[in-house]
Amino acid sequence: MARRSKLVAGNWKMHGSTAQNQGLLNAVISRTVELKEVGIAVSVPYPYLAQAQSVLANTHVSWGAQNVSQHEKGAYTGEVSAAMLVDFGCRYVIVGHSERRALYGEDSHTVALKFRAAQAAGLIPILCVGETLDQRDAGITEQVVAEQLDTVVELTGVSALAKAVLAYEPVWAIGTGKTATPQQAQDVHAFIRRRIAANDSVVAGELQVLYGGSVKASNAAELFGMPDIDGGLIGGASLVADEFVAICDAAKN
Ligand code: 13P
Repeated sequence: MARRSKLVAGNWKMHGSTAQNQGLLNAVISRTVELKEVGIAVSVPYPYLAQAQSVLANTHVSWGAQNVSQHEKGAYTGEVSAAMLVDFGCRYVIVGHSERRALYGEDSHTVALKFRAAQAAGLIPILCVGETLDQRDAGITEQVVAEQLDTVVELTGVSALAKAVLAYEPVWAIGTGKTATPQQAQDVHAFIRRRIAANDSVVAGELQVLYGGSVKASNAAELFGMPDIDGGLIGGASLVADEFVAICDAAKN
């Protein structure tokens, strides 16, 4: 079996201030410095990218954004291009977060275009997939996740996943305090990997698939202990230094 390293990525969503960020980032740097084998990243609101770059440059912590335009440049008022994210030293960008899909009408095709634009600029997209509670109850979790994943693969080819990260985030577990059980998450992660393996088993074996949805210090180790869970995408708990550091620590092998 391919040996994959773990990644713990914070998604700050629309939170933070220059003063708060400074303390949080400094704490994360200093308190995770021993965790050599764990990848650590934060996805910050656009206005704080310059701050993230200045604080995190030349440390072991990477940074990125939470969204990106599918367009390269031009008359797109309010949008931010992938090249601009690269200009601020970003390594990662989240695409297809369920909040973008649900609140801003991003469909799987738009998400696929964003994924492609991010990679074209040299960013690593963190592609989010996941079902709602209604969809889970209707027994169509795998269909929903497959559609979200396949739309990207059809546009970019499966080999593009070699330079990407996936995040399974069941919508019903996001910000609700209701975590998927390790086995529920593992089942979907294994499904994702099988589906990709049908096209390319090497890419599937090496792909990092993160779990997101109410990950906390108290449940991280159990989730990260599952064979197909390669770390987490952390919302609320990434804003609290003690929690985020403990989650990073739980990703140690
Ligand atoms: P919470 O960790 O706050 O549930 O958010 C998860 C998430 O949406 C990360 O992208």
